[in-house]
Amino acid sequence: MASCTRFLIFAVAASLLASFARADLQYDFYNTSCPGVETLVRDALTEVFAADSTVRAGLLRLHFHDCFVRGCDASIMINSNNGTAEKNADPNLTLRGYEVIEAIKVKVEAACPLVVSCADIMAMAARDAVKFSEGPDYLVETGRRDGNVSMMADALSDLPPADGNVTVLTKVFAVKNLTMKDLVVLSGAHTLGVAHCPSFSYRVHNYTGVGDEDPSMEPEYAEGLNAKCAPDNFASVVPLDTVTTNEFDLGYFQSVYAGKGLLGSDDALRHDSLTGAYVSLMNNASSLDTFFADFAVSMINMGRVGVLTGTDGEIRATCGIYVD
Ligand code: HEM
Ligand SMILES: *[C@@H]1O[C@H](CO)[C@@H](O)[C@H](O)[C@H]1NC(C)=O
Ligand SMILES: *[C@@H]1O[C@H](CO)[C@@H](O)[C@H](O)[C@H]1NC(C)=O
Ligand SMILES: *[C@@H]1O[C@H](CO)[C@@H](O)[C@H](O)[C@H]1NC(C)=O
Ligand SMILES: *[C@@H]1O[C@H](CO)[C@@H](O)[C@H](O)[C@H]1NC(C)=O
Ligand SMILES: *[C@@H]1O[C@H](CO)[C@@H](O)[C@H](O)[C@H]1NC(C)=O
Ligand SMILES: *[C@@H]1O[C@H](CO)[C@@H](O)[C@H](O)[C@H]1NC(C)=O
Ligand SMILES: *[C@@H]1O[C@H](CO)[C@@H](O)[C@H](O)[C@H]1NC(C)=O
Ligand SMILES: *[C@@H]1O[C@H](CO)[C@@H](O)[C@H](O)[C@H]1NC(C)=O
Repeated sequence: MASCTRFLIFAVAASLLASFARADLQYDFYNTSCPGVETLVRDALTEVFAADSTVRAGLLRLHFHDCFVRGCDASIMINSNNGTAEKNADPNLTLRGYEVIEAIKVKVEAACPLVVSCADIMAMAARDAVKFSEGPDYLVETGRRDGNVSMMADALSDLPPADGNVTVLTKVFAVKNLTMKDLVVLSGAHTLGVAHCPSFSYRVHNYTGVGDEDPSMEPEYAEGLNAKCAPDNFASVVPLDTVTTNEFDLGYFQSVYAGKGLLGSDDALRHDSLTGAYVSLMNNASSLDTFFADFAVSMINMGRVGVLTGTDGEIRATCGIYVD
C-alpha cells in the first residue's frame, strides 16, 4: 500500500508539472462548444464494442501510432492516392479501427459540425477502449486540432521497432518527451490484442542463423509459436498477453516476467534493471491499482505529444481525407 501511495503521489506531481508546461489541452475542452460529446462518443463505442470487443485493442494502438508520428493530430487517418501516407508505411502494419473513428466522427459532426477534432475523438476512443476492457477510466485532455500532413517516411523513422532493446526503445520514446517509465507502463497496452506472425516469428526461426530460437524465451512457449507460425505464415495472430487477451490487467506483465513476452520489445523490458524492476513489481497481483494509476498518467503524457492547438491545424469534417 505504501508503494502504491508513493506511485500515486509521483504520478499526480508529474502530471501537474507537465500540465504547466503545456496549458493548451484541457479537460472538457468542448464543455460549451459541444457539450456531451464525450458521452456521445462513449455511447457509440458501447455499441461498437458489443458487436466486436477485439476492436478495442485496435483503437488503443491507433492513438499510439497517431501520437508517435507528427504528434496526436489524426494524421494516421489521412489517405494518399499515391500510397505515401503514414498508414502506408508498412503494408502489413495491421492497424485497425479506422472505420470506427470515421463512423463516430459522422455522429459528432451531426451534433456539432466542425467543432471536435478527429485527434480528440481518437484520444477519447483509446480511453474508452481501456475502460471497457475493465481497465482504468481516466479523464482525457482535449483541445487538439488535426494536421493534414501525413508521410510514410515519418512513420518509418518515428515508430519503435518490435525487435528493439530498451536502449533503442528509450531513445525512440525520449524523442517524444516520454520517459523509460512511460515506455514500460505504456507497453502494458499489450495486455490487449494480438500480433501477426511476421512481427515475432524471427525469434523462433533461425534466430542467430544456426536454426535456433531466442534463448530468452521460455522454451515451451517458443515451441508453440514455432508450430503456429511457419516462416511463410503472414496471417495468423497470437495474443500479446498469454493470460487474458481481451482484458486490461496485469496478464501482460505476468507473461513478460515468465519469458512469454511475444515481441522482442516486450521481452527486452525484463532485461533492463529499471524496466525489469517494474515488470517484476507488476508480476504481483497486488500491483493492479498501481498499474492503472501509472497507465492513466502515461496515456495523458502520450496524448500531449506534438499536439496542434489554438489556431494551428484544422477541424475537418472527415478524418480520412485524401491528401496528394
Ligand atoms: C514499446 C514500443 C512498442 C512496440 C515495439 C510495439 C509494437 C507492436 C507490434 C509489432 C504489434 C503487433 C502488430 C501486428 O503484428 O499485427 C503491436 C500491437 C499492439 N500494440 Fe504495440 N508496440 C509498442 C507500444 C505500444 C503502445 C505505447 C501502445 C498503446 C498505448 C500499444 C498498443 C498496442 C495494441 C493494443 C496492440 C494490439 C493491436 C490489435 O490487436 O489490433 N503498443 N504493437
Ligand atoms: C469549460 O470550457 C471553458 C473554455 O474551454 C474553460 O475555460 C472552463 O474552465 C471549462 N469549464 C469546465 C467546468 O471544465
Ligand atoms: C503481407 O501479408 C501478406 C498476406 O497477408 C503477404 O502475402 C505479404 O507477403 C506480406 N508482406 C510483407 C512485406 O510482409
Ligand atoms: C541494443 O541494440 C542496439 C542496436 O541493435 C545495439 O547497438 C546495442 O548494443 C544494444 N544494447 C544492449 C544493451 O543490448
Ligand atoms: C539459418 O540461417 C543460416 C544463415 O543465414 C542459413 O545458412 C541456414 O540455411 C538457415 N537455416 C534454416 C533452417 O533456415
Ligand atoms: C506482493 O505485494 C504485496 C504488497 O506489496 C506483498 O506483501 C507480497 O509479499 C508480494 N508477493 C509476492 C509474491 O512478491
Ligand atoms: C517536448 O517538449 C519540449 C519542451 O516542452 C517541446 O518544445 C517539444 O515540442 C516537445 N516535443 C514533442 C514531440 O511533443
Ligand atoms: C491544411 O491545413 C491548412 C490549415 O492548417 C489549410 O490552410 C490547408 O488548406 C490544408 N490543406 C489541405 C490539403 O487540406
Ligand atoms: C505523392 O504525392 C505527393 C504530393 O503530391 C508528392 O509530394 C510525392 O512526391 C508523391 N510520391 C510519389 C512516390 O509519387
